[in-house]
Amino acid sequence: MGPVPHPPHHIVFGPGIVDRLGGLVAELGVERAFVVTDPGIVAAGHWARAEEALRAADIEVRRFDAVRENPTSLDVDRCVEALGSWDASCLIGLGGGSSIDVAKGCAFLQAGGGSMADYRGNGKARGNLLPIVAVPTTAGTGTEMQSFALIGEEETHRKMACGDAQALPALAVLDPSLTVTQPRFVTACTGFDALGHAVETAVTRERNATSAHFSSLAFKILVEHLPRVLDDPGDVDARGQMMIGAAWAGYAIEHSMLGAAHSMANPLTSQFGVVHGQAVGMSLLPVVRYNASDPEASRLYAELARGAALAASESTDAEAVAALVARLEELLGVAGFGLSLAAHGVPPSAAEVLAPEAAEQWTAQFNPRAVSAEGFVELFREACSGGDGVDP
Ligand SMILES: [Fe+2]
Repeated sequence: MGPVPHPPHHIVFGPGIVDRLGGLVAELGVERAFVVTDPGIVAAGHWARAEEALRAADIEVRRFDAVRENPTSLDVDRCVEALGSWDASCLIGLGGGSSIDVAKGCAFLQAGGGSMADYRGNGKARGNLLPIVAVPTTAGTGTEMQSFALIGEEETHRKMACGDAQALPALAVLDPSLTVTQPRFVTACTGFDALGHAVETAVTRERNATSAHFSSLAFKILVEHLPRVLDDPGDVDARGQMMIGAAWAGYAIEHSMLGAAHSMANPLTSQFGVVHGQAVGMSLLPVVRYNASDPEASRLYAELARGAALAASESTDAEAVAALVARLEELLGVAGFGLSLAAHGVPPSAAEVLAPEAAEQWTAQFNPRAVSAEGFVELFREACSGGDGVDP
């Protein structure tokens, strides 16, 4: 590991705070902002709000609005081309994790040239990166709290984790009003992604005291408020809590990395088009069960459950882990995902095809229990069949 990462220099939170974006960015000494976003954000009117706020503070603004979901090196190349030789003084990622990650990727290439693959790993920045401002419009990835960009290879869509302390956003603007118009499915997927981050970071081999604190805090917040935002999408208080929970879970990743559920999620997305958060959520149950046979992982899951009042303080580890599993099952039902990926087009017979790619993922190495390619076959069978390991 390189230097200990630190949270964004400045985090601001509040419904409607995006309307103060201009003043907040101006405080960083920014005069020309290049905004990286996607067509959905433009259509939703979020871009117009951000642009108005920036122009009101006399900040010159240009934009790249063609970021795709699960962005690849091609998205970053297109963004760099759109930026051209314009003398931007910061890059603003406005959108889900994709736009923020492409803004980070653009910063790497703008400063040091080459292609995204050159920056795979940690501490690979060349020269001085433009400051990043993150304005998330979902409560999910937590990339606004991280020095890493997750960018797919264009050919294979395999994720490359490209990190450097300079890529950590200088400013994160958390405005829950940007999330209230999301379709329920998007809320469920992003919410389960964040929940998956909280649960996985709690037990990884890389975890430390800092990540443990933020994993626990994030889990407690997310597990309470995810059902609320699914029940009432207009509940801005609950939306705000989800945004904070997702941010803390994202910060836990910075210190702890992720685990086997994220290794499973990537091939589910690349091979079957399952949305990341849903793939994480539905992979999480078999992974928790698998890891819980390790006494230390079981103890950590139990602490997570007790910390969120899912189990009594005097409960045994086995009782508390059972309560955690039961709550995850319940939430998967509330989200409309259920327990079986077969119901979403991934039959148990796909396990053999998915497992090799899962075993190659960079997150697999941090899972508390080692998982072989054969082990992933079993985990996929369980996720696809809803827990009993057989075809439904
Ligand atoms: Fe994730």
